[in-house]
Amino acid sequence: MAKSLTKELCKGTVSIVGLGYVGLPLARAFVSSGYVVKGIDLDARKIAGLNSGKSYLSDMSDKDIEELNQTGRFSCQATYDAVSQSDTVVICVPTPLTEAGLPDLTHVERAAKELADRLRKNQLIVLESSTFPGTTDEHLVPILEQSGFKVGVDFFLAYSPERINPGDPTDLRSIPKVLGGIGEASTNAAAALYRNVFDEVVVVSSTRVAEFTKILENTQRFINVSLCNELAMLCERLDINIWEAIAAADTKPYGFTVYHPGPGIGGHCIPVDPLYLEFKAQQVGFSSGFIRTAQEINQKMPGYIIERIFKLMDSDQPKVLIVGLAYKKNVNDIRESSAVAVMEKLRARGVEVSYHDRYIPEIRIGSTVLSSVELTSDRIQAFDCVAILTDHDYVDYALIARHARIVLDTRHAVPEREVHPNVVYL
Ligand SMILES: NC(=O)c1ccc[n+]([C@@H]2O[C@H](COP(=O)([O-])OP(=O)(O)OC[C@H]3O[C@@H](n4cnc5c(N)ncnc54)[C@H](O)[C@@H]3O)[C@@H](O)[C@H]2O)c1
Repeated sequence: MAKSLTKELCKGTVSIVGLGYVGLPLARAFVSSGYVVKGIDLDARKIAGLNSGKSYLSDMSDKDIEELNQTGRFSCQATYDAVSQSDTVVICVPTPLTEAGLPDLTHVERAAKELADRLRKNQLIVLESSTFPGTTDEHLVPILEQSGFKVGVDFFLAYSPERINPGDPTDLRSIPKVLGGIGEASTNAAAALYRNVFDEVVVVSSTRVAEFTKILENTQRFINVSLCNELAMLCERLDINIWEAIAAADTKPYGFTVYHPGPGIGGHCIPVDPLYLEFKAQQVGFSSGFIRTAQEINQKMPGYIIERIFKLMDSDQPKVLIVGLAYKKNVNDIRESSAVAVMEKLRARGVEVSYHDRYIPEIRIGSTVLSSVELTSDRIQAFDCVAILTDHDYVDYALIARHARIVLDTRHAVPEREVHPNVVYL
C-alpha cells in the first residue's frame, strides 16, 4: 500500500545522483517519507523538464512531478553543489556494458570523484546501481578516501540494490530493501535511513553480498527466460504450443516457477547484470557456462524472430508492422530492446517496416527517423505480417487478430477467443 505524502516528516537531506528510471522514483519515495531531496543529474534537459513539471518516465506523470515540486522538499540541478548540504548521497547512475561487453563503471566512478571532492564528515554514501560484487569496496572506497576521510570512521558507505520494476504500479517502498555496509557503523547508518522509507529492510553482512544478491536475482531470470526461449524454438519444430505447456506445468503446486518466452530479453538490467558477474567470475579464474549459454540464446533471438516472420509471408516486397518497441510492457525504455534489433535487421533485409508503440512516439534508425503509426483496421490489413513484440496493456490485440493477414504473437497477447489460423505464437 502506498504511504501518503503526509507521513511523519523525517529529518535530513538526501542527494540523489542520477534521476532516471531508478533515481527519480526513489527521490519521490524519500520525499514522501519527509526527507528533503536534492536531485543531481548531468542531463540538463532532464533537470529543465523536472523544473517545469514535465516527466520523462512512463511510470510518473507530469502531475506526479508537479506534486513532487509542490512539496517544497524536492529540487534538482545539473551540478553537484547540493552534496555539501546533504546528510546522505544515493548514487543511481547507469552501469552499462562497453562495446566489448565488459562492465563500464565510468558513470559510477565519475560520480564518486565528484563526491570525494565535496565529502563532509559523517556523510552516508549509498550506491544503488546494479554492479558486480566488489564494486563498493574495491572501486568506491579508494576514490572516496582520496578526500582524506576514512570509511567507517569519518564517513559511511553502503550498497543497496534497487529492485524497482518499471511498468509495475507497486509502491517502491513495499519492495523489501536489501543492504550491506562497509563495517557495522555504515550498515547501521544505512539501515536506519532506509527503515524510515521502506516497509522492510533486509540487512546482509557486507556490500559484496548485497551486490551479489541483485545479480543473483537478475541472472536467475536471464537464464530461465533464455531457457524458455530455447524451448520455444524447439517447440516450433515439435509443433507444440509452449504457452499451453507452461500453463499446464504451472498447475503443479510445488517446484515449478513460471517464466515465459519472448522475442529476446532487453532492458538495462537483465541482459546486462549477468555479464557483470561473468566479468568478476573471470577475475577469479571462473566462468559460468549458464551465463554464456543464456547470452548466446538471447543474441540469437532477433534473428530467429525474423526467420519466423519470413516464413509467414509470401511477398516479394514484404511489409511488416511491429507492435511494441519498448523492451517490456508499459514502459518507454528501448535500451537493449530486442524489438529494435528485429526492426533494424528487417530493414537491412529490404523489408518495409512500420511500428506502433505509444510509449515510443519516434525512433531513429541510422539516419532515418520513424514515427509510431496508429492502429486502425485498414492499416493493420495493409501489412503482410503483424509481429507483436511487446505486449503493452493498452493495445487492442483483438482488433489486430481480426484484421491482420497474419500475426506472429511473441508474447501470447492475443486473447484466446481471437486465436484463429492467422495468429501464430512464438
Ligand atoms: N531501469 C531499471 O529497471 C532498473 C532496476 C533496478 C536497478 N537498475 C540499475 O539502476 C542504475 C540506474 O539505472 P536507470 O535505469 O535509472 O538509468 P537511467 O539511464 O534511466 O538513469 C541514470 C541517470 O543518471 C544520469 N547520470 C549519468 N552519469 C551521471 C553522473 N556521473 N552524475 C550525475 N548523473 C549522471 C543520467 O543522465 C541519467 O539520467 C543502473 O545501474 C541499473 O542497472 C535499473
